[in-house]
Amino acid sequence: MTDFTPKREDKFSFGLWTVGWLGRDPFGEATRSPLDPVEAVHRLSDLGAYGITFHDDDLVPFGSDASERSAIVSRFRGALDETGLAVPMVTTNLFSHPVFKDGGFTANDRDVRRFALRKVLRNVELAAELGAKTFVAWGGREGAESGAAKDVRAALDRYRESVDTVAAFIKERGYDLKLALEPKPNEPRGDILLPTVGHALAFINELEHGDIVGVNPEVGHEQMAGLNFAHGIAQALWSGKLFHIDLNGQSGIKYDQDLRFGAGDVRNAFFLVDLLENGGYEGPRHFDFKPPRTEDYDGVWASAAGCMRNYLILKERAAAFRADPRVKEALEASRVGELSTPTLGAGEKVSDLLAEDFDVDAAAERGMAFEKLDQLAMDHLLGVQ
Ligand code: GCO
Ligand code: MN
Ligand code: MN
Repeated sequence: MTDFTPKREDKFSFGLWTVGWLGRDPFGEATRSPLDPVEAVHRLSDLGAYGITFHDDDLVPFGSDASERSAIVSRFRGALDETGLAVPMVTTNLFSHPVFKDGGFTANDRDVRRFALRKVLRNVELAAELGAKTFVAWGGREGAESGAAKDVRAALDRYRESVDTVAAFIKERGYDLKLALEPKPNEPRGDILLPTVGHALAFINELEHGDIVGVNPEVGHEQMAGLNFAHGIAQALWSGKLFHIDLNGQSGIKYDQDLRFGAGDVRNAFFLVDLLENGGYEGPRHFDFKPPRTEDYDGVWASAAGCMRNYLILKERAAAFRADPRVKEALEASRVGELSTPTLGAGEKVSDLLAEDFDVDAAAERGMAFEKLDQLAMDHLLGVQ
């Protein structure tokens, strides 16, 4: 029996806002009392995580002055030093305060945009100070509820201007930090800009400093749009842009559930872990989930432990799937490896291609044998071999 106890080298990290979520939703008040960030550091460390991440406001309440900020940061740093927990990623809250009701980087009001940019630049300094390697930008309020309210092309100009300004600032300061944009289709805005991984990748191509800008896709966000998350991750990896990831669970097209990792679409989670473990991703396995508001703090820690346990179970199942000789045979029968052979031969001319004979009927008759392959995946996922 494999030991599914998380270890530091598994690189599991959690947002302070995840285990610290009080359970406040649009229909009900908080069901849990506030969690001290120092306690979160200790509990996560005891559970086997290697890192903790946060929004500026999760740690330093909005509006704190410089001396309050430095007292809070030094107390937090003390807990990090005591436990050895890292801060691999930091992010900025540009969505909670009412001033951001119409967005931060793309608010129609120019003074709000300038305030948002200052807030992010100050937080970049804190991220660098704490040794973070990734700076996430989730534009939850960058969007609109109605058509005439937002000039989307102008908003994208301003989005690009701000992201390039932050990236240029990082380079100028010489920080070892990369930016990762987090797509989401909707919630809290009716429609959010950069709604999917594909939109974000296309946007990054338009940046002046796009070399240090990548994506931070979240499982549930792509699934809210009915998309295949593992496919989105494959494309981000293919583009060399998977800088960070938010792991959680989601059951289909509905509100952002932020379930613990492994809940929701477990088949996609299986293929996702298979891809992350074999596709060259070396960053943190970061959980961005919300322990349901039904839970007390025992339930919160059980939920956090469950995220890591599910990842490790799926990792073991994916490895067994790949090692199974019947799977190797089935992959062969499905000609999966053949897709890596270029369609044209080296130096081949299009005239040769045009002149080629092809037995259409014979090719049309060949079965792909995908069902047998998929059933083997199911057997491994379900632990029946
Ligand atoms: C969500 C988002 C947020 C962001 C976080 C980082 O659930 O809608 O994922 O949790 O990840 O704010 O900026
Ligand atoms: Mn997220
Ligand atoms: Mn989410």
